[in-house]
Amino acid sequence: MSERDDDRPGRARGATRRKVLGIGGALGLTAATGLSTAAALARHPPFTGDELRSAAPLPPAFQVPLPLPSALAPISTSGGIDRYEITQREAAVEILPGVRTPMWTYGGTFPGPTIESRRGRPVTVRHHNELPVPTVVHLHGGHTPASADGYPTDLVLPEGWPDPARTGRAGHGMSGHGMSGHGMSGHGASGMQGMRDPRAVVTRLTRDYTFPLDQRPALLWYHDHRMDFTAPAIWRGLAGMHIVRDDAEDSLGLPAGRRELPLMIADRVFTAAGALDYPALDPTLRGRPGVRDAYLAGVLGDVILVNGAPWPVHEVDAARYRLRVLNASNARHYELEAVTDNGRRLDLVQVGADQGLLAAPVAHRLLPIAPAERYDVVIDFAGVPVGGRVRVVNRLGSGRTRDVMAFRVAREATDESRVPRVLSRDLPAWRRSDAARVRELSFRAGRMHGGHGWLIDGRPFDPARTDVTVPLGDVEVWRLVADVHHPVHLHLVGFRVLSRGGRPPLPHDAGLKDTVSLRPGESAEIITRFDGYRGRYLFHCHNAEHEDMGMMANLEVV
Ligand code: C2O
Ligand code: CU
Ligand code: CU
Repeated sequence: MSERDDDRPGRARGATRRKVLGIGGALGLTAATGLSTAAALARHPPFTGDELRSAAPLPPAFQVPLPLPSALAPISTSGGIDRYEITQREAAVEILPGVRTPMWTYGGTFPGPTIESRRGRPVTVRHHNELPVPTVVHLHGGHTPASADGYPTDLVLPEGWPDPARTGRAGHGMSGHGMSGHGMSGHGASGMQGMRDPRAVVTRLTRDYTFPLDQRPALLWYHDHRMDFTAPAIWRGLAGMHIVRDDAEDSLGLPAGRRELPLMIADRVFTAAGALDYPALDPTLRGRPGVRDAYLAGVLGDVILVNGAPWPVHEVDAARYRLRVLNASNARHYELEAVTDNGRRLDLVQVGADQGLLAAPVAHRLLPIAPAERYDVVIDFAGVPVGGRVRVVNRLGSGRTRDVMAFRVAREATDESRVPRVLSRDLPAWRRSDAARVRELSFRAGRMHGGHGWLIDGRPFDPARTDVTVPLGDVEVWRLVADVHHPVHLHLVGFRVLSRGGRPPLPHDAGLKDTVSLRPGESAEIITRFDGYRGRYLFHCHNAEHEDMGMMANLEVV
């Protein structure tokens, strides 16, 4: 591990005499190079990725009703623990009207069923893997012991998958054919290291994940996290929502019941036959990881789904609604606005971030949301005439990807909900002077085993290497530097955004986050305390293609 004295001007007092740590070599140099490339990239389009085109006929916007994923019923609730069971299996799901799309699902639906839980009340989910490949479940945003956090090599093997103990291959049993070729060629080598991960805990057919959920109420989501194959697995349907609630939040008076809508936004592409299209090098997702060269920066779809429906519409009362928005897209960014028929933009009053309630509401007209981020917003339809429509549009989209969904105001209604001026008083308020150390980490494109890679501090992911070691309970400041868009996510902990580009954070950076959207050429500082559990965790870019192509690193809490 390299380190250097931090002698830059402008460093906050608390950290002046501390070291700035990175994980690779030649740290300062890496970061500086990142910044200069960045200046050029800053004028580039707001996407990192390329769009695939659907061959299937697509429905008109705002016709399909918005589905609301059903809440999963517990198998038992005894002993202070709620137990659930989910079978991961292939299913034909109706996404486009009248078309059956083969998907990989949690329990037969997309999104998977929603898990409703209470703060501090543990939940155990028994997952059965009936898919043709190994899987592993991660609860994104969960404050979870490492053994249940879904480390990418902690695989659940399906029926008939070779025994890793005998073959030495935990994750890539079918890769008898060579991993050579161009583009992602070398990445197989990183997969090979994964197979030899001595700490992997591999099970067959099933695994219980226990989540203590001793954390702030928030919208979390669960998704697949298999090494090298997370992006195509999520794309095929392995994603669902998980809501944590508590009494304090319930008593605020925010819109609730049918006026609270979880919205999972994700883009997809459909073949003429109605199957999902994805540019995987190995469409079986059994052997060789990676995508075709044109999509190395990320895969974008031309169909925008909300809760699994294309450009849906939802009937609402002329009242306040709480929208719990999750961007579950692999690589697509959105800048959402809510526009009435006559062009008026409604306020999106943010009440919560990735990790729960803000201290106080923040009103937005335009809400940027990067992959894996969640925004909890209240929108008031009271001023919209009955019969009127409010479209949610993505300012970053073009053509049909500009539309996201619509609300049709169906009736007048009484509204007893409110948005209190104070939402929560338990937000951690770490100061720079609390930080035991400052780390600098670059997120940049680079070469990986002879092919293209996405690297953290110049290195691709390797499960056998510890990148960052943090003593349990320490507060740290991380300065994250990007070349292009990278939504950076930390497992285990929520953090606050301290600065962006050397300036105060943006309005939508408020609250406690677990994913921060680094814009092209930007450096942002985050601060957090690493508390709760020791063990091996991750941080990574949540552009899912970047993640699969190396942009992930190990965080060891000791
Ligand atoms: Cu959404 Cu490593 O996770
Ligand atoms: Cu996560
Ligand atoms: Cu990235």
